[in-house]
Amino acid sequence: MSEKNNKDILQDLNDRRSKAQKGGGDKRIESQKAKGKLTARERLAKFFDNGKYEELDIFVQHQSKDLGLDKNVFDGDSVVTGYGLVNGKPTFAYAQDFTVLGGSLSLVAGKKIAKVMDLASKNGAPIIGFNDSGGARIQEGVDSLAGYGEVFVRNTLFSGVIPQISVIVGPSAGGAVYSPAITDFIFMVKEIGQMYITGPDVVKSVTGEEISHQDLGGSDAHSTKSGVAHFVYETEEECMQGIKRLLDFIPQNNLENATKKDFSETKSIDEELRQIVPEKSTEAYDVKEVINRVIDNQDFLEVHENFAPNIVVGFGRIKGDTVGIVANQPASLAGMLDINASDKAARFVRFCDAYNIPIITFVDVPGFMPGVNQEHQGIIRHGAKLIYAYAEATVPKISIILRKAYGGAYIVMNSKELRSDLNLAWPTAEIAVMGPEGAVNVISRKEISESKNPEETRNKLIDEYKEKFSSPFLAASRGYIDDVIDPAETRNKIASSLEIFSKKFLDNPSKKHGNIPL
Ligand code: HXC
Repeated sequence: MSEKNNKDILQDLNDRRSKAQKGGGDKRIESQKAKGKLTARERLAKFFDNGKYEELDIFVQHQSKDLGLDKNVFDGDSVVTGYGLVNGKPTFAYAQDFTVLGGSLSLVAGKKIAKVMDLASKNGAPIIGFNDSGGARIQEGVDSLAGYGEVFVRNTLFSGVIPQISVIVGPSAGGAVYSPAITDFIFMVKEIGQMYITGPDVVKSVTGEEISHQDLGGSDAHSTKSGVAHFVYETEEECMQGIKRLLDFIPQNNLENATKKDFSETKSIDEELRQIVPEKSTEAYDVKEVINRVIDNQDFLEVHENFAPNIVVGFGRIKGDTVGIVANQPASLAGMLDINASDKAARFVRFCDAYNIPIITFVDVPGFMPGVNQEHQGIIRHGAKLIYAYAEATVPKISIILRKAYGGAYIVMNSKELRSDLNLAWPTAEIAVMGPEGAVNVISRKEISESKNPEETRNKLIDEYKEKFSSPFLAASRGYIDDVIDPAETRNKIASSLEIFSKKFLDNPSKKHGNIPL
């Protein structure tokens, strides 16, 4: 090849690449910006360390001819895929390009995503998808549905193998919602992110309900009501930082551990912990105060913060090592377990178990939530998920009973028989089948009603019940609690035990897979 030819060839390559990098063209990029959104390539450049990543399949084109698609061909089609470093670690990502036919998913776009997912899995690294799409490419018909199939099957097969994160930074309509739904965590950006199976127009024509895009599928709806979204951010930049923070807590894949971090030891004996639980057992307090005092540097990454606040889940570190925290929250619904709390905590426990993250459980739970609505919505099958998740988990499991641990909820919250490794209780713990008032009303109803002074008798019986059951010592005398500890020592006790349990080995019976109640 002559030098001139060589120059022409390279010029041609550069021209082709520059054209491809424009996606749907200048006008559509302008329109994307006018909506307050970054373009797909800007997203990846902001996400990867130093803006550097290797792009794949930039010259891929769809092969469809129907409904005018032969005149609408764009290099790279509607998704940008690639890999690079994030927090210094290998990471794979794709970003749907709304400037190309509304980011709609074609067969080749599905295959591009599948290819980068396969690479992520082979290299044991997380895959992050930025979603900005009108759903299946309508003109392609069944081909585009096959494209989704390629993605869904990988979302499923790689679940529990490599962390999968979805970021909703535009519409995510129709088929576009289901890949995110299978992934481990969904991040949404306020105002620009929306998710729905069918948009407001279809909703109106089918049910007559009128609702805006935001109210139907915006970040508020999904982070508080449906529980679909785990994290919400005001801007795309803040969202990227949030994703990187999460990636920093979790391992690259199911065969590795999360990276150990430096920490500055505050007080190893924290006397303030003795003051947090109020004397009156019906009084509320914020369990996050306990969490923040026990973990390193008060650095708690709460997951699902606005959904089912009666249970708190999230990541922290103890002496540099990542732990998953699950805690009943007495400041919300008295910390009762309801349907949403059970789903939220079960999914979190299973993530931790899949990725070798020890689970620390703080217990203060008066029971499962009573009510017709809860019963008819299936609290039985939802609550069962949490039992299943804790029971099957083989990572180190430690629980600390702070105050109430009543009835079924006591068993669910990582009790000894669910193969917990260490069960501690604060002296304020009350472990019983049910609360004293309810218990006395059931077992002593006749005695109370037949007594000369029913009120006095009831109070006396309540005091007797409290004396016997409302302390941790009966449970400790039977070995259900391994030790009753001074709250001030909580962090030290957890840290020294986790060090010993770090080599824990426990296998479940061999099987194809279990059948978790869904
Ligand atoms: C082909 C699409 C498309 C789609 C949008 N476009 N969605 N092209 N297939 N699914 C095109 C538009 O025609 C338009 O092209 C360009 O993308 C930008 O779209 P706009 O509507 O101008 O943008 P905007 O006003 O921001 O509205 C975005 C939107 C809207 C809310 C996403 O486009 C929309 O409602 N799209 C359809 C959503 C939907 O019903 N999807 C379900 C598909 S079926 P031009 O050339 O005019 O600019 C499905 C089932 C799969 O997904 C099931 C698998 C399990």
